[in-house]
Amino acid sequence: LRSSLAARRLGIGVIGAGMAGSIHARSARLAGAELVGVCASTRQRSLEAAERLMAGRAFESAAALIGDPDVDVVHICTPNDLHYELAAQALAARKHVICEKPLGVDLAQSAALERAASEAGVVTATPFVYRYYPMVRHARALVRQGRLGTIGLIGGSYLQDWLMPAASSNWRVDPRRGGSSRAFADIGSHWCDLVEFVSGDAITALSAQIRTLLPERAPAATGTPSFTAEHAVGHALEAQPVETEDAAIVSFRTAGDAAGAVIVSQVSAGHKNRLSFELTGIDGTLQFDQQSPDTLLMGRENTVEILERDPARLHPSARRYASLPPGHPQGYHDCFDAFVCDVYESIAKGSPPDGLPTFADGARAAALTAAVLRSGRNSAAWVDIDHEVSFGQEATKATGVTTST
Ligand SMILES: NC(=O)c1ccc[n+]([C@@H]2O[C@H](COP(=O)([O-])OP(=O)(O)OC[C@H]3O[C@@H](n4cnc5c(N)ncnc54)[C@H](O)[C@@H]3O)[C@@H](O)[C@H]2O)c1
Repeated sequence: LRSSLAARRLGIGVIGAGMAGSIHARSARLAGAELVGVCASTRQRSLEAAERLMAGRAFESAAALIGDPDVDVVHICTPNDLHYELAAQALAARKHVICEKPLGVDLAQSAALERAASEAGVVTATPFVYRYYPMVRHARALVRQGRLGTIGLIGGSYLQDWLMPAASSNWRVDPRRGGSSRAFADIGSHWCDLVEFVSGDAITALSAQIRTLLPERAPAATGTPSFTAEHAVGHALEAQPVETEDAAIVSFRTAGDAAGAVIVSQVSAGHKNRLSFELTGIDGTLQFDQQSPDTLLMGRENTVEILERDPARLHPSARRYASLPPGHPQGYHDCFDAFVCDVYESIAKGSPPDGLPTFADGARAAALTAAVLRSGRNSAAWVDIDHEVSFGQEATKATGVTTST
């Protein structure tokens, strides 16, 4: 996977140098790209980030980075409110773009970027990176082979606790920076993308309850990095009402007539990144939990089997991403590395590897988020989803279902 990329040394620019930006920079370098430069929120932060990430330059502004002729691919890793403007600028400059999720702060922004991407004729990608666990690909292959039979039930959760302390905050809490949805847009979108990708079945209608368990928090101090000790220590600013949800419980049904439910929360003590799902068909149940990402659990009538990430036994579509022998754990970083490799391969070869999440998938996630907010604000009324779904391949229109409100 990597050696084929070495021949084409792409120039990369990373905008935003926090948690996501640092991971993008690392994966880009591993994929054989040249990290031309980075840009953070201030000149000083850009200089610090360039040194820390071993980038060629600290750009004065995002516009200068996007306009630089050495930058072939723009990685957008800023808070969500900047995604639309930066991605639109990069597309107008005919640059390839990897833009973090959520693609925009609402469906209108995300759909506009999806359209702009298809008009620009460049490669675009949205990092739904959980698709890159080898066992996720293997699960997808088993479903496609019909090993579960018709899937009737889909369940799971994405639970975190990093925003549980009352003193904690982050730019994500502020709807002006993160968008109107927080927990669902931030992590529920990942879960839905993953489950649609593996099951090949589109969510066609949903009913959501949204909850804010901590009604007040002090606003995040400017520049407080995410997922560090600093976000949780609290500070002197006066507490403000919280306008975004800490949690969402979403029931849904699919084009294949499965019934589903997911719990999404950023305030569930003891859970760090508990992304798990379960698909139940008439012939068996398949479980994945990213806290044990090298295994799948397959239940059948009289047996429970643990399937391991053994390249000799994996489906070829999964073996492609198994970079280590079984027993040496692979994790989130490996997913990101594989995702970035696939984006660059798409640029080099002119056609996307199977399963690459694009701006179309980012817009799909925005459609689901919009429906969750609409339902959650309207007594959990059922809301139809009228948006194309690609399952990592050609986009298709999911068949709608009758909706009861
Ligand atoms: N795909 C994933 O698995 C994943 C994981 C984490 C974060 N994300 C996404 O990545 C994005 C960033 O999240 P994070 O957790 O890294 O946040 P963060 O707070 O750690 O980092 C944000 C960075 O953006 C920079 N920034 C702010 N304003 C800027 C500006 N005007 N110009 C340039 N840089 C600016 C900040 O200096 C900071 O370095 C979010 O959209 C988030 O949803 C995705």
